[in-house]
Amino acid sequence: MSSLAPPEYGWWKPFPRDEKVWLTIILIAAVVLSAITIGWALVGKQNVPAASYKVTPAEFEKQVADFTARYQVPGSAGEVRVPPGQDAYMMASMWTFSPTLRLTAGQAYTIWISAKDVLHGFSIADQNLNVMAAPGHAYGVRITPDKPGSYLVVCNEYCGVGHQAMTGKIIVE
Ligand code: CUA
Repeated sequence: MSSLAPPEYGWWKPFPRDEKVWLTIILIAAVVLSAITIGWALVGKQNVPAASYKVTPAEFEKQVADFTARYQVPGSAGEVRVPPGQDAYMMASMWTFSPTLRLTAGQAYTIWISAKDVLHGFSIADQNLNVMAAPGHAYGVRITPDKPGSYLVVCNEYCGVGHQAMTGKIIVE
């Protein structure tokens, strides 16, 4: 008999015991993994605490401009000192984030992020924070920065030839 002979047909026969055992193990694993997937979304601190609202790029641009005009650091080029308790706004556009935010350590902030033109990403380098910046939606990320320093904001969605140089800054003081 050739080693390439097809296996014996037998799909109509009852499962042998070893096959039943494996099917049971696979079923249990599927249920457990599904439960972990759902539980992960509900429990724990791994999710970015966030809210969102719909906004056109033009409306969001006006919100950013009003916010920048109100809290701009005098003499600076687009640096904004955000008073504690006040929401912050940041626009992602090809290929920059503006304005630069100055936050106070230990205070809770919501940073609203949206995009002017195409889909961008918003991620703070070396921090566990990573969201999308999409035109038409503002995404509010709640953070409480605890360590003073200068944090690099980078874009993590490919958005054109300037993508790899698209950065912004958050200063915690
Ligand atoms: Cu913006 Cu990549």
